[in-house]
Amino acid sequence: MSSSSLRARLTLVAILSATTFYFIYKSRRLNKLLRLSLKPKNPENPRKGKLFFISQTGTSKTLAERLHSHLTSLDLPFELVDPRNYEPEDLPKETLILIVASTWDNGKPPETAKFFVDWLAESANDFRVGSLLLSRCKFAVFGVGSGAYEKSFNVVARDLSNKMRELGAAEVLPVFEGDVDGGELDVVFEDWSKRVVAVLKGGEDDHVGNGIVDCDVGMESDDFDDDGGADDDEDDDDDEEEVESEMVDLEDIAGKGPSRRSKNVAETNGKVTNGKRDMVTPVIRASLEKQGYKIIGSHSGVKICRWTKSQLRGRGGCYKHSFYGIESHRCMEATPSLACANKCVFCWRHHTNPVGKSWQWKMDDPLVIVNTAIDLHTKMIKQMKGVPGVTQERLNEGLTPRHCALSLVGEPIMYPEINTLVDELHQRQISTFLVTNAQFPDKIKLLKPITQLYVSVDAATKDSLKAIDRPLFGDFWERFLDSLKALREKQQRTVYRLTLVKGWNTEDIDAYFQLFSIGSPDFVEIKGVTYCGSSATSKLTMENVPWHSDVKAFSEALSLKSKGEYEVACEHAHSCCVLLAKTDKFKVDGQWYTWIDYEKFHDLVTSGRPFNSNDYMAATPSWAVYGAEEGGFDPDHTRYRKERNHKPKQ
Ligand SMILES: Cc1cc2nc3c(=O)[nH]c(=O)nc-3n(C[C@H](O)[C@H](O)[C@H](O)COP(=O)(O)O)c2cc1C
Ligand code: SF4
Repeated sequence: MSSSSLRARLTLVAILSATTFYFIYKSRRLNKLLRLSLKPKNPENPRKGKLFFISQTGTSKTLAERLHSHLTSLDLPFELVDPRNYEPEDLPKETLILIVASTWDNGKPPETAKFFVDWLAESANDFRVGSLLLSRCKFAVFGVGSGAYEKSFNVVARDLSNKMRELGAAEVLPVFEGDVDGGELDVVFEDWSKRVVAVLKGGEDDHVGNGIVDCDVGMESDDFDDDGGADDDEDDDDDEEEVESEMVDLEDIAGKGPSRRSKNVAETNGKVTNGKRDMVTPVIRASLEKQGYKIIGSHSGVKICRWTKSQLRGRGGCYKHSFYGIESHRCMEATPSLACANKCVFCWRHHTNPVGKSWQWKMDDPLVIVNTAIDLHTKMIKQMKGVPGVTQERLNEGLTPRHCALSLVGEPIMYPEINTLVDELHQRQISTFLVTNAQFPDKIKLLKPITQLYVSVDAATKDSLKAIDRPLFGDFWERFLDSLKALREKQQRTVYRLTLVKGWNTEDIDAYFQLFSIGSPDFVEIKGVTYCGSSATSKLTMENVPWHSDVKAFSEALSLKSKGEYEVACEHAHSCCVLLAKTDKFKVDGQWYTWIDYEKFHDLVTSGRPFNSNDYMAATPSWAVYGAEEGGFDPDHTRYRKERNHKPKQ
């Protein structure tokens, strides 16, 4: 036999064996499923109803837990189940199932429920399994999603309902859909929960006929363990892993959340004024407050940043001190819109922020926002009294903020009264650094002079921008490019802010450089992403955090590409941040002028005359210039070094 025909025979044998094994496996599985579905009930072994939560960041889990305790208090005991700890082959044994399920990326379920969801889909599509597999089961599904995702809104919940029905289960209530960004989530869930209880107790909603509670929530079942082992369904779920989120502990929110008995709809979801809802619902409020934000009214926030505290203690300011001369202890971090139109992978709020494509919420007065922000900010500054290193002089200065970073979270230019708000700040001699996410070009065009206007340039190509920012807008790329064009028309200082995520966007130097010519920014800030702990929503690890040397190399490569149009002007090693500046504007006779003459800026604004970025620039001190041995650290401050937790580059 020739060697080629031997190889062909061996291949054939291998294929036949694999096929045989596959069919044996499939037919054993099928037989098992059919046996399970046809077995008679065993009244001796009542089986609890199962309350599944399919959750990635904890919202569905929190709601399910809330319902679980309510059912328990009504003597309707259910078992709370995380599908990752559940064997779907046991589904045919179930008689009563409630599911609270969220939807993620383009209609996908959270990772932890993938096997469970796939199992149902596979079984429903397997003609041999038939439509009787779950015929003893009654069920209801609640969907948790965001209406901002339009077509894929709550598709996981709807698909689950379809598959369960295809497999013969009887749906006792239609799918209810909660919208986390529509402000209705709690209300809809409350409504669904009430109907579930009514059905369980045999109320009118039970459109399959009988009240389920009459047959006992601990419904009858069989000992289905064909393999002779003990039925292990009563596993305790209490030890399940918590969704890791140091910043957003939805467990706590559940505690603070509305109680079924005492709260009405308005209290639960914020007041509705003239048909407009509060942007910050109680759930989002509790989450943000836990992260240290002070919420102002219904859509704004203020927070004291760690650099403000650091400079109050004389331990150094943030990179904006080195690059532009802001005094970090006199800087207030705030936003008039906690909502934005992205769900960026590095969003440090772990996606509890409201999202929307336009302003659809109740609107607070800009004067009230500014006054309250200053009031809350100064209260937080006062709390620093007595902290080691805080001198009375710096504390007094801190009580009169001179800068406002409108970049805290969210998208400040979504706020329709942003210009009035900026005016209010400038009138108080507070300079403005405003960061926009490059999704609202028309709003950028309408902006009045800002001390320094930033556009976040999170990626350089359409695909990577989609992957990193996860924008809501279908035309996000056009919006992004139009935002850069709008920036070009601005006369005051403009900045591209690049956040480098190693392995995601650090390779695209050419593509980034091409973006320079569109917006022609005065400055390009290049910063390594900050690692805020991992979460189910963000796949970032410490490996994605670039070293300062990586950021420097990237910046120098960009400068080289620009053929001298931009040069590396400053660095702040501590923040892993580097500044490129336009040489023809900000390098005069070999001296950098990246700092700001703030008084001059306010004079220019007050004058009402047109002015440009050159009119209020100031000389950069030598310690802040790129290559200085201080690494951008002000020698007047005391340095404290922090250990970094991942291994340095070899
Ligand atoms: C990146 C991302 C993608 C999302 N995709 C969808 C979607 O396609 N459809 C939907 O209805 N909701 C979507 N959402 C909204 C989530 O369902 C919502 O945040 C929900 O509260 C998550 O619930 P969980 O915390 O129980 O996982 C998405 C959220 C994020 C952050
Ligand atoms: S733009 Fe900012 S606030 Fe919005 S998701 Fe991204 S990081 Fe979070």
